[in-house]
Amino acid sequence: MKNIYIKTWGCQMNEYDSSMIAKNLESTGQYLITEKYEQADVLILNTCSIREKAQEKLFHQLGRWKKLKDKNPNIIIAVGGCVATQEGKEIFKRSRYVDIIFGTQSLHKLPKMINEVEKNKKFVIDISFPKLDKFNSFLPIKNTGYTASISIMEGCNKYCSFCVVPYTRGKEISRPSDDVLFEIATLAENGIKEINLLGQNVNAYEGPTFDGKICFFSELLRLIAEIDGIERIRFTTSNPIEFSDDIIEVYKDTPKLVSFLHLPVQSGSNKVLELMKRSYTTEEYEKIIEKLIKARSNIQISSDFIVGFPGESKKDFQQTINFIKKINFDMSYSFIYSSRPGTPASEMKDEIDLQEKKERLYVLQDCISKQTMSWSRKMLGSQQYILVEGKAKKNPTQLYGKTENNRIVNFYGPQKTIGQFVQVKINEVHTHILNGTLL
Ligand code: SAH
Ligand code: F3S
Repeated sequence: MKNIYIKTWGCQMNEYDSSMIAKNLESTGQYLITEKYEQADVLILNTCSIREKAQEKLFHQLGRWKKLKDKNPNIIIAVGGCVATQEGKEIFKRSRYVDIIFGTQSLHKLPKMINEVEKNKKFVIDISFPKLDKFNSFLPIKNTGYTASISIMEGCNKYCSFCVVPYTRGKEISRPSDDVLFEIATLAENGIKEINLLGQNVNAYEGPTFDGKICFFSELLRLIAEIDGIERIRFTTSNPIEFSDDIIEVYKDTPKLVSFLHLPVQSGSNKVLELMKRSYTTEEYEKIIEKLIKARSNIQISSDFIVGFPGESKKDFQQTINFIKKINFDMSYSFIYSSRPGTPASEMKDEIDLQEKKERLYVLQDCISKQTMSWSRKMLGSQQYILVEGKAKKNPTQLYGKTENNRIVNFYGPQKTIGQFVQVKINEVHTHILNGTLL
């Protein structure tokens, strides 16, 4: 048995890919996953290039692993993910001790690649985009005992001017609907109650069906809701483009779909949205939200924001703040714009200084966190349906569960409720964490 250590950077998709890598390697019977890198025979780095100095971070990490390899030359080092896809052989040129480079779509080939290196002691690389092959050889993945994520589509065709995803993950491609449904049914049989559908643009899902038709996202949601045992459905990420009326309709008649939606707007200025090539206006975004509220009056919306995009004036930024207040977003992931090599925005003139960008980010996050708190406050005294996930982190005599809108609720209750949905009454609120009493 050989020990494998996997280090993962980045988004949920990368986490998901890493769990596929782990399952794939374990299923050969030759490998064990270890949490201790010092004990590893194979070191795998699953990289992310969405922001920051991805390349520098990568070589920094590789430098640390090189020390292990200096001591034990039999150690195999593999680099995968978005940086590997973008940089390819360049990584090997700079760090000759790297043995394997694999792409976001070729991770299922890793067992074979490792064998090759062991046999031939030669560098191997595969960063091709062989469509959906990687999904054919894996088993459904359990995240916790009761919730699971499942990838339904890959890639992105939107080419927002700032974003590397279309270059690192390839074109949008949807998994066959029967594969997705079968995997979710298997998960449900194994006790999974909550499912999170993953993809760069899940609402662009167009899965082929067994009889040669296309299953759109709205239909997929309805079919998943029919699966016995699945009681809650989430998805991430969706895009305002293609957030069509048929998807909004699902909120009307499918209570298993949570009243919480992550729909990234990025900016509240139409000028900036155009520079970003987001292909919608704030007015169009607002229209979607209005329709959603009509379909589901208690829906809460979260978003991603980029501040300091090239050309974002103080006025543009103020428009973003006004928009945040207008929509009353519940939460956000917000970032300072990071120039990504190879993207059109990296050619734009970036004249805002870093201090100004940091201030804008602070103002934005402060505004959102006040709104998060006010949404939480509204929950005081309410009854909430939560999925109990285990013992509370701070006080293990308590249990915790999650609400539809991603709040953690700590409460006293019997162990047997772990893995069940229960009703609690909220009697204390903090921004993201609430206290409740079991009803
Ligand atoms: N498909 C999603 C986004 C996926 S990328 C959408 O339509 O919005 C996740 C988030 O990372 C983006 O929403 C964006 O806010 C952020 N991001 C992507 N590229 C970035 C960059 N170059 N600089 C800063 N943030 C970026
Ligand atoms: Fe990136 Fe825009 Fe697609 S942010 S993932 S190119 S929708």
